[in-house]
Amino acid sequence: MNSSELKKLIEGIPKAELHLHIEGSFEPELMFEIAKRNNKEIPYKSVAELKNAYKFNNLQEFLDIYYAGANVLITEQDFFDLTWAYLTKVHSQNVVHVEVFFDPQTHTDRGIAFDVVITGIYKALEKANKELNISYKLIMSYLRHLSEEEAFKTLEASIPFKSWIDGVGLDSSEKGNPPSKFEKVFKASADHGYKLVAHAGEEGPSEYIWEALDILNVDRIDHGNRCLDDEKLVQKLIKDNIALTLCPLSNLELKVISKMEDHPVAKMLEKGILATIHSDDPAYFGGYMNENFYETAKALNLNKDQIKQLAINAFEASWLSNEDKAKHISKVENYFNK
Ligand code: ADE
Ligand code: ZN
Repeated sequence: MNSSELKKLIEGIPKAELHLHIEGSFEPELMFEIAKRNNKEIPYKSVAELKNAYKFNNLQEFLDIYYAGANVLITEQDFFDLTWAYLTKVHSQNVVHVEVFFDPQTHTDRGIAFDVVITGIYKALEKANKELNISYKLIMSYLRHLSEEEAFKTLEASIPFKSWIDGVGLDSSEKGNPPSKFEKVFKASADHGYKLVAHAGEEGPSEYIWEALDILNVDRIDHGNRCLDDEKLVQKLIKDNIALTLCPLSNLELKVISKMEDHPVAKMLEKGILATIHSDDPAYFGGYMNENFYETAKALNLNKDQIKQLAINAFEASWLSNEDKAKHISKVENYFNK
């Protein structure tokens, strides 16, 4: 397959995105527009200058800029516009199901009310469901650099909106903030009926993946790159069919890998791990779903069967009903058989 055939193949696949931070989809053009209408300063003169600052040596350098960018989001309309821009973009890439993270504390800590944030996001998701036929789940993520007590406050704030929220996650600075720090709030979240996921093994060690599984009881791991350091863990992931939501362009931009050819996803598929590909923070890492599929497939020389497997795995790992999973998976199968 040449490059344009590979691109065309990937564009046509019906896809599911399971690892996407809505704040990470904030494109510089929209950031400037929203900053202007809210009379907020951005410490960069232009879109070009801002984009030029997107050079990261690690997760923390990225997070500092990502939280600063989110500062200009104030009103329900801002959160709606942010989410709607993401949804129309991925609709153009044939993404048919999304499971979206939002970081309430990034906003509530600046004095923006929880209901303002979630209402804007929710209205855009509902509109996309009706008008673009995109199904969705919403995941509230706790910031792990903050305390468990603060996560509990966020859980409390979420209760009136419980029917809009499908699960909770754990993100932000991984090193030094192990999953075990959040044992109680994850247990309480599960008691409220929330599903559980956590970022683990992105920069942190494989032990954090064990903790996410054994202590937090998550049913999916975000990233999980470092699992390959521990064969016993690999065997557990396979046996329990635990999905890893990998983000290749993110890994490259945050120096989790030094070149795309080193990305572990092909090895993971070969071992039988339920590995999937997503975009994480597409506005910062240079690509949405199609670009992540394309760059990975090109660098690792993935064949059609491997690309198909990745597309199927994402529906398999999603929180859709078994009936909806089967419908989507048969569409993927048909697409590859035609
Ligand atoms: N928040 C947004 N993107 C993240 C990532 N890649 N890791 C941890 N926290 C994040
Ligand atoms: Zn992430």
